[in-house]
Amino acid sequence: MSTLPYRRAGRSGLDLSAFSFGLWQKFGTDYPFQTQREIILHAFELGITHFDNADRYGPPHRAAQKLFGRILQRDLAAHRDELILSTKAGNPIGASPYLQGGSRKSLLGSLDHSLRDLGTDYVDIFYHHRQDDSTPLEETAGALVSAVQQGKALYVGVSNYDTERAHEIAGLLRGAGVPLLVHQPRYSIFDRRPELNGLLEQAAADGFGLVVYSPLAQGLLTDKYLDGIPAGARAQNSAFLKPDVIDDTYRQRATALDKLASERGQSLAQLALQWVLRRPEVTSALIGASSTAQLDHNVQALDFPELTAEELTLIDEHGVHGTGLRL
Ligand SMILES: NC(=O)c1ccc[n+]([C@@H]2O[C@H](COP(=O)([O-])OP(=O)(O)OC[C@H]3O[C@@H](n4cnc5c(N)ncnc54)[C@H](OP(=O)(O)O)[C@@H]3O)[C@@H](O)[C@H]2O)c1
Repeated sequence: MSTLPYRRAGRSGLDLSAFSFGLWQKFGTDYPFQTQREIILHAFELGITHFDNADRYGPPHRAAQKLFGRILQRDLAAHRDELILSTKAGNPIGASPYLQGGSRKSLLGSLDHSLRDLGTDYVDIFYHHRQDDSTPLEETAGALVSAVQQGKALYVGVSNYDTERAHEIAGLLRGAGVPLLVHQPRYSIFDRRPELNGLLEQAAADGFGLVVYSPLAQGLLTDKYLDGIPAGARAQNSAFLKPDVIDDTYRQRATALDKLASERGQSLAQLALQWVLRRPEVTSALIGASSTAQLDHNVQALDFPELTAEELTLIDEHGVHGTGLRL
């Protein structure tokens, strides 16, 4: 097994591998189990020890956790102590009010279900998946604290929270003796919200880390869409990446970034991953992959020299916030 660098999550005592692997897309019942198993085991072989899941991931909902549970039992059980497993709750998985939101009922019910699906007694990180302004933040924070006190989670996180609510819940959790470990926002060259809304600075001030998701903008920050949409690519068959975002403006910007990457002797994907990890507030880049080759390629992002100030300026010029994304 190789090792990747580990990075400290905020002011906690926990290190996460520089890359984390997520099971959002292509880890439901719609893809072959053997391929999914190979990718997950390969990620671990490469030194990725943090696996990110959610009750919602599939299709159908809960399928990705059941899949990971099978692999955990069959292949990774002896390594449980070396793994960081995370799950999330609160993003709707059904019409019932107990299958969504930030209530105690919803969060703790989902966590119990996830533990059964994953076949583990505890997860390392339990997240509230998305901000719910209709539930008192004290109730949500209380449910996260209970998860830790009940021994079902070691640490807690939030995802998709705006900066102010993240700061507020960090205060509530700190007061209850269960500090917020991490926030999981979307962050990439094409999605600058954590820079624009002050989240990066708030993370440093409050002492939580950032596990940033979709650092490749779901594949838009690779060279795969520069000449059309290849067969089997996510933009061909996902509700979350529609082909219409791959337009001339996108191509022009991605091509300029690709050229800059080539001049550095790397690929656009490697440049994009290195770019999110340049910030010390970012604990880990949370990636997906549909093949082991993508993983091999992507982890090599760490082998290149740091981006210079001049290169960062060029990236800002072509990496326009919102490109290819529905914000
Ligand atoms: N908290 C939240 O609300 C939230 C939301 C979204 C995601 N997430 C988490 O973040 C994880 C990662 O999200 P993501 O999958 O969008 O991340 P991403 O790393 O931006 O995109 C990964 C996808 O890009 C393509 N790709 C990767 N490497 C490539 C390469 N070298 N060349 C060409 N194509 C390449 C693959 O798609 P194809 O090959 O299939 O085209 C791959 O599945 C998720 O699994 C989930 O755990 C969390």
